[in-house]
Amino acid sequence: MLNCKKLGVIGAGKMGRALIVGALQSGLLAPTQILLSRRRLAALEPIQQQYGVEITTDNTLLLAQCDLILIAVKPQNFDELWAETQEHFNSNHLVISVAAGVTTQSIEGSLGLELEVARAMPNTPALIGRGMSAFCLGRHAGTALAEQCVQLFSTVGKVVQVEEILMDAVTAVSGSGPAYLFLMAEAMQSGAEKLGLSREMSETLVQQTLLGAATLLAESADSAATLRQNVTSPGGTTAAALEVLSGGQFERLMESALVAARDRASELGKD
Ligand SMILES: NC(=O)c1ccc[n+]([C@@H]2O[C@H](COP(=O)([O-])OP(=O)(O)OC[C@H]3O[C@@H](n4cnc5c(N)ncnc54)[C@H](OP(=O)(O)O)[C@@H]3O)[C@@H](O)[C@H]2O)c1
Repeated sequence: MLNCKKLGVIGAGKMGRALIVGALQSGLLAPTQILLSRRRLAALEPIQQQYGVEITTDNTLLLAQCDLILIAVKPQNFDELWAETQEHFNSNHLVISVAAGVTTQSIEGSLGLELEVARAMPNTPALIGRGMSAFCLGRHAGTALAEQCVQLFSTVGKVVQVEEILMDAVTAVSGSGPAYLFLMAEAMQSGAEKLGLSREMSETLVQQTLLGAATLLAESADSAATLRQNVTSPGGTTAAALEVLSGGQFERLMESALVAARDRASELGKD
């Protein structure tokens, strides 16, 4: 069980919900140990009915009842959130934020308290328990909060601890990463259709190929480069395709995409 009296989730949207579902399904928390908030009550009621957790639209009530606070609102909602809640935080609250780009220092500064803050970056495969999360600790946070992060994010996949300076890079790689694969799937599917395969057949071929390749990468002792070489005979079909991708500067494009995502994460925290 997670070592907390009650977990309060401020912003029970996609990510907040994924995390509480993981915590409930793994038995890390009982439904009575979870209080969820968002502004629209109608969106909270189905979660209450399904999981038996408590719900509220009142963040100040949540802060009065909970010791571990998970903030899962969008970065652009932080000013409004602080205006409503600032005076209701105290230095005994343990805070975990999953908002992209928002630093632990800015959270500590906005609250004007020496409280324990952790910042985490999960990704959407957390919705199916296959997430990749990274977290870092603020300057007042101790090993107990680190352990709570490990326990909480392990319920929805893998978790690693990093220095905060690397959080925007992590955001670019694993936070936004699923979208890169989805774009590749879209491109492969549309290319497959142009080669004469039906839409349904294209989707099946692409989905199973990406799933199989990702699983092979995770389970094999070989690196991505070795696995790629293993399917690339000189002068063969894969070599012909990879020549087009590399000639089109695929690697450079990916590098630039990661830099753009990293820089945007950093800007979001300053907005
Ligand atoms: N989705 C991802 O892949 C992903 C990955 C890593 C990190 N994150 C981070 O996770 C956070 C949430 O993302 P998401 O995709 O879950 O977005 P989302 O589905 O829009 O969830 C955000 C929720 O916050 C609620 N909210 C906004 N202001 C609030 C307030 N003052 N008090 C209480 N609730 C409030 C919104 O509901 P109401 O409008 O009903 O209030 C909404 O349900 C973001 O900061 C994002 O950077 C997301």
